[in-house]
Parts: sequence; C-alpha cells; structure tokens
Amino acid sequence: MNLQNITDLIDPLKETLEKASRSNTQKPQKYWYPLSLATYGLEEILEALDSMCSFRTSMWQKTAAFEAQFARLLNCGEAVMVNSGSSADLLLAFSLRNPTAPLLEAGDEVLVPAVTWPTQVWSVMMAGFKPILVDVDPNTLNIDFNKIDAFITEKTKALFLVHLMGNPCDLKQAQAICEKHNLILLEDTCESLGATYENKHVGTWGWGGSFSFFFSHHITTMEGGMIVCNDPKLADHLRALRAHGWTRDQHNHSQAYNPTLDSRYLFNSWGFNVRPTELQAGFGLRQLERLPQFEERRARYATQFFAFLEKWQAWLTVPQVCPEATPCWFALPLMVAKNAPFTREEIAVYLEKNGVETRPIVTGNIAHQPIMQHFPELIKEELTGADKVHKQGLYIGLSPMQEETAMTRLEEIFDNFLTIY
Ligand SMILES: Cc1ncc(COP(=O)(O)O)c(C=O)c1O
Repeated sequence: MNLQNITDLIDPLKETLEKASRSNTQKPQKYWYPLSLATYGLEEILEALDSMCSFRTSMWQKTAAFEAQFARLLNCGEAVMVNSGSSADLLLAFSLRNPTAPLLEAGDEVLVPAVTWPTQVWSVMMAGFKPILVDVDPNTLNIDFNKIDAFITEKTKALFLVHLMGNPCDLKQAQAICEKHNLILLEDTCESLGATYENKHVGTWGWGGSFSFFFSHHITTMEGGMIVCNDPKLADHLRALRAHGWTRDQHNHSQAYNPTLDSRYLFNSWGFNVRPTELQAGFGLRQLERLPQFEERRARYATQFFAFLEKWQAWLTVPQVCPEATPCWFALPLMVAKNAPFTREEIAVYLEKNGVETRPIVTGNIAHQPIMQHFPELIKEELTGADKVHKQGLYIGLSPMQEETAMTRLEEIFDNFLTIY
C-alpha cells in the first residue's frame, strides 16, 4: 500500500472517530464516569497504519525514537521499551541477577509494599528473590518508612518502591534507608509518569524505574512499558533481557565479539522476548505530544475534586502528599473513615448505581489474595496499615478525556449521598 492509499483512508477514519466520540460509544453503557477513556485518536492510528503499510511492524526505528524522547522527557540517560509494565518490572528484577555479574543471589530479600500491583511481587519472585511485604501508610498509600526497620534482615538487599496512584514516596527517606542498610533502590513508576520529587522525575532516583502504557495509564501504547536508568551497561543488559539474550540491540557489545560465531546470532546473556512492536512505539510518540495536556487536565480535575472533598474530610480522605513531591494522579483514591456512618461497600454500590465506576485500591493488602496462601514466608510482620487500605480504600477514575463539566456532576453525586447522613 502506498502513501496515497493511506491518505484515502484518512477521511473515512476521521469521520468514524468523530462519530464515536460524539456519541460516546467508547463509554461502557453502565458508566458515564468510567475508570478510563481512550486517549488516542487519528494520529496514533495513522502511525500504526504507517508501520503496517511499510512492513515495519517489529521493533525498529520508532521504538528507538520513542525511547530517546522518553529518556529526554525524564531527564535520564537511558530508556528501554518493552511490551508491558509487568515486563518492565520483570526485567528490572532480573537485572539484579545478571549471570555474568550478579548483584544479588537467589533467596535474597527484596522489600516491596503490601499494597501494590501483583506483577511487581511476582517479578521479584520469578527472578529468584524473596519479596518481603512491608506495611503501607494508609495516609499516603505508600510504603511506611516508620515501620520499615522491622522488615530488614541481613538478607535484605533491595527496596522496590511503588509510587501508588501517582503519589510519590518520600524518596529522601528511601535513599537514607538504602544508604544505611546498603540496599539497591528500584522504583515501580507504572502509575506515576510525570510525578516528581524535588522536581526530579520519580523512576529516576535509583537503579531503575518501570513504566506502564496500558490503556488507562498516563499515556497509552495499547499495551506497553518502559524501563529507565542511568547506567549504559544496565541498559544494554535490559536490551539483552528484552530480546533472547542476544547482543544485536546492545549499544556496546564489542567485548562479546567471537570470531567463531556469527555476530547476528551472538548471545551474551539469558533473556526473554518481551519486545514492543513499532505500532506501540508509534502510538507512544504521538501520545508524548499529548502528555502536557493530559497532565494539566489530570492535575486540574484532581485539585478540584480533592478541594471539594475537604468539607467531607471527617468521613472521606484523600492521600497526603510529601511537601517535596508533585503527584501526577493516576486516579482519584479515597479512604472511608472508620467512624463514617457508611461503609466503603455502601458508597461503592451507590457510586456504581450512579454510573461512576469504582475499584478497590489495587490488590488491597496482597497478603489476603488467594495465591498468597502458598507463600506464607513473605509475610513477616503485621500489615495493619495495608489492612486499613484493604478495608477502607477505593478509587474512581481520572481521565483527561472527561468533559470539563464532569467533576461538577461527580461532586453533586457525592453530595447527594453524603448529605443523607
Ligand atoms: C503499580 C503497577 N505496576 C505494574 C503494573 C503492570 O503494568 P501492565 O498492566 O502494563 O503490565 C501496573 C498496571 O496497572 C501497575 O499499576
């Protein structure tokens, strides 16, 4: 297919997209305020078509361009794109076990928060380490640094943070703990693209940071993820882990040269195949152009909604933010106070009935998920803060594609419920 044929496709495509957005067909029937809405349009679709029509669908120049732009945006040295945020977590965990220069040994302990996305925990396990569940502070939803000492043993070698819901952890405290106990700092930044701590992007504070570009995230590549880091050797190892363990995509692999082997099939690491496609990277390039507008909307909607909730703060609270941090909210998380005259379930049922989609705070306390009965050794101490989030927390969406009037309608729905009591 040539360029003219592609151009012929654009007008009907444009019309279909416009019609879809006018009639809101992308919104599930049940919800006027769903968790997320599509953030891509014609530009992303054309990028994907362009890759397909030029027969360049597997990882190539668009991926490299997206990685370079992403690294520039985050002001870090390197970015390695993968096919999901979970793969980013997986490679980050495996990067600590480089067979040629392992930093950690099998069985070493890695601290993870008890409220997180599960693939962060599975990644640590699958890389052969023991993820130890650390309690979280229900006021921030993030790891509780005041309790962390109780979880540290001589086997503890790394701290893998999650900046939940786009709210940065206290990274100065994290760094101090890592220095004191000689721990490697990793960051799962899958819910927090754009968030900063002391004006420096979260995800760039330690060994490496993982990002997700799933449909509902700050930008989407349909499915997709990224790992950022500052060490070019680590980036090369991640490139090997991403694609079979081969040298082909590494920037500096000259030491692997071997005259008896074909350099096109030269392997200097173990690895998976978790490469992204060019279609995803093309989406990413166009989404980065939209990111400032998405961030502005997310911040404005969240500020408006959180300010509205202040009058109800005896019953409903929103996460506290470190003074050094600027969140980039992923969603609108809420905690129902223990002494509120309604339960978390009651307000969730009410919101759902009124067209507002809700979710628990991700896994809740992951220790209560059925799979965890097979891993009792990961639960060392009581997780009372995580239990509180488990029982009292919920979140609703925060889509930058919502109409400007959506937050006012949302406030009315909350007021109607809360004034009953
Ligand atoms: C904190 C966190 N980590 C990891 C992931 C995994 O990302 P993905 O869905 O792209 O695999 C998610 C997904 O939502 C997440 O929220």
